[in-house]
Amino acid sequence: MFEAARWAPSAMNEQPWQYIYAHKEDSALFNSIAESLMPGNRIWATNAPLLIVSMARKTFMDNGSHNGSAVHDTGMANYALSLQATEMGLFTHMMGGFDHSQLKQNLNLIDDLQPIVIIAVGYPGDASVLPEALKQREHAKRSRKNQTEFVFTQSQNN
Ligand SMILES: Cc1cc2nc3c(=O)[nH]c(=O)nc-3n(C[C@H](O)[C@H](O)[C@H](O)COP(=O)(O)O)c2cc1C
Repeated sequence: MFEAARWAPSAMNEQPWQYIYAHKEDSALFNSIAESLMPGNRIWATNAPLLIVSMARKTFMDNGSHNGSAVHDTGMANYALSLQATEMGLFTHMMGGFDHSQLKQNLNLIDDLQPIVIIAVGYPGDASVLPEALKQREHAKRSRKNQTEFVFTQSQNN
């Protein structure tokens, strides 16, 4: 998975992504990541065998100037990682629902590293044990906008 992330393209080939991962057995690290999750995420994500913290370095390594593509490029690396996981029979679930300052404090992150998402990696569990709202979400039909809502041949006014 990290090899797939490694080959993602990035502005100036900066490769601004960084990851910290914890297997469930690495309980101290795993818990310090899990602790920052919003309760609605913690309830299911702590059953995953692996949590990955995705981070973006906000500045260019060579001159320290702001890298406006860092978050975009880290997102691409994350998507490559997710596709690779799927290819390997694993499931990923990205979460933006976490307390950024708590995570930064727990992991002792330098200011230049911006946490982007926490990614739970594992296998589908038993949805019947989830609280009602999460159970419903799990069983809901997946949906997306129609292409006509976001693909155009001219600029839109709304
Ligand atoms: C940046 C980002 C943040 C997300 N944050 C959360 C989250 O905190 N909790 C959660 O359950 N899902 C989270 N998701 C998953 C989305 O809710 C999910 O991709 C979307 O609802 C579409 O669902 P589907 O891909 O299963 O069709 C996040 C996804 C992304 C890309």
